[in-house]
This record gives sequence, C-alpha cells and structure tokens, in this order.
Amino acid sequence: MKTKLATRQFRFSSPRSGFFLATAFALMGPAVASFAAAPSATEPALHGAGSAVPAISTCIACHGAKGEGNTAAGYPRLAGLPAVYIAQQLHSFAHGTRVNGLMSPMAKGLNAGQITAIAHYYSSLLPPTLAYGPMPAAAQAELGQRLAERGDWSVGIASCFRCHGPGGVGVAPNFPPLVGQPAGYIEAQIKAWKDGSRHNDPQGLMHTIALRISDADTQAVAIWLAAQKPMAVKTH
Ligand code: HEC
Ligand code: HEC
Repeated sequence: MKTKLATRQFRFSSPRSGFFLATAFALMGPAVASFAAAPSATEPALHGAGSAVPAISTCIACHGAKGEGNTAAGYPRLAGLPAVYIAQQLHSFAHGTRVNGLMSPMAKGLNAGQITAIAHYYSSLLPPTLAYGPMPAAAQAELGQRLAERGDWSVGIASCFRCHGPGGVGVAPNFPPLVGQPAGYIEAQIKAWKDGSRHNDPQGLMHTIALRISDADTQAVAIWLAAQKPMAVKTH
C-alpha cells in the first residue's frame, strides 16, 4: 500500500494535476471500483460541476470508503469532522498555507462549490467507534494523558482538551477532533506547524504549542490520543 501510494505521490505532484488525477483514478481502478459498487445516496454528485475530477471516488483511495482514514499510512479520517474545518483545510491546501504533496494538487483541482459539497458530505458521516491504535506502555500513556487533559504549565502548554473539547471530540466549527486520528498523523501535523509548512491556523494557536512541545511529549500525546475510542458524538 505504502509503496503504491509513494508512486502516486509523484503523479499527484504534477502541475497538470487534473490530467494526472484522472489518470491516477483510472489506475486505482480495481480498488476504487469495489468501493464504488456500494451505492451511496448522500454522496454529492460532483461530476459536471465544472471539473472532471471524480472527487469522492478519488478521496476513498486514501481516506477510506466511510471517510475513516488509514491508520497504517497515517491518512486522517474525515468522517464527522466539522464542515467548516474541512472546507478551510481544502482551501488552505489550494492556497499553499498548508502544504502536502498528495493533497495540495488535488485541492487545487476543486472549485468552491465542490469543496462545500465535499465538506458537508464528510461532516455528515458518523465518526468511527474503534480506537486507532494500541495503548502505549504505562509511562508513555500517563504522560500522554496528562498532556491531553491537563497540559504542561511548566512550558506553557494548555491541555489539548481545553480547545479540542472534553475527550478530544472536537468543538465545531473550528476545533477538529483529535481522537479517531492516527498517531502518525497527529505527530506529523505538530511537526508541520513547527517547521512552518502548515501555517493556516488563523491565530497561530497550534504553532505556539508546536514550538513548546518536545518530540517525546508529541509522540506520547499522539499515541495516547490514537488509543482512545472516538465517541459517536457529532461535532457539528
Ligand atoms: C493519495 C492519497 C490521498 C487522496 C487520494 C486524498 N487525500 Fe486527503 N489527505 C491525504 C493526506 C496524506 C493528508 C494529510 C496531509 C497532511 O499531513 O497535511 C490528507 C488530508 C486531508 C484533509 C485534512 C484533514 C484534517 O483533519 O485536517 C482533508 C480535508 C482531505 N485530505 C480531503 C480530501 C478529499 C476531499 C479528497 C478527494 C478529493 C482527498 N483528501 C484525497 C491523502 C489523500
Ligand atoms: C489554544 C487552543 C488549542 C490548544 C490548547 C490545542 N489546540 Fe490543537 N488545534 C487548535 C486549532 C484552532 C486547530 C485548527 C487549526 C486549523 O484551523 O488549521 C487545532 C488543530 C490541531 C490538530 C490538527 C487536526 C487535524 O485534523 O488536522 C492537531 C493534531 C492538534 N490540534 C493537536 C493538539 C494537541 C496534541 C494539543 C495538546 C498538546 C492541542 N492540539 C492543543 C487549537 C488548540
């Protein structure tokens, strides 16, 4: 899976993303076809909306048939995220305030109407109920839980749940859920704020935290969060 996606990454990185997206979609054929066979009444009809990008069918390859993400590859879940937040992220990828080799070219190929439709579609899907990773060893779990619930005032880090809601389920419209995301994804985002490749957070809240949190603490909190069961609570 990883190797295949690495090859795709090259393809998606082309400036001629529209053409390559279509090609990639064709190449993804077998995997996508099996998902596409399942009828979905709520999937937005994006074809003919001014772009040849078969949007949702393309997203499924990485974000899962139900928007559940991909833990092994570290691809985020989209199901149940606030619609406003999803739309903001797609605009950020398109405008370069959030950079990712896979997502940026794809977001540039979407028009505003498609972004709104996609955001509402994914937001309407139920969050998963299973945990995204195993509980770490006691010492790391205790550290992760403490950061999530109480923060670390000695270095000026507020608790994650203070902004992301009790249990980390998210607070619509602007604070995304943290539970139900792969550990590797959470870690990667904090690193992206640290190195500046993600700078779309309007008030720089996460950038400030990223500069203060150590790599070991980032890893502990990411693994602990991924080991929590996302509650079936809608965040929007
Ligand atoms: C080839 C794999 C791939 C495909 C196909 C793909 N994505 Fe992504 N997506 C990713 C990765 C990887 C990330 C994480 C990027 C990062 O680390 O910033 C991501 C992140 C996102 C995010 C941000 C989520 C968050 O929690 O902030 C949104 C929204 C998103 N994708 C929407 C889509 C949509 C809509 C489509 C279909 C048009 C799509 N993606 C297709 C790989 C993919
Ligand atoms: C002061 C408020 C605040 C605190 C405290 C906070 N966050 Fe955030 N966080 C935000 C905001 C706002 C966003 C959305 C940024 C954006 O719009 O791109 C965010 C986004 C994130 C994301 C991206 C999620 C996604 O789907 O891409 C991760 C990961 C994250 N925060 C982790 C943490 C962790 C871990 C902690 C605790 C150590 C934490 N946050 C504490 C405000 C906060």
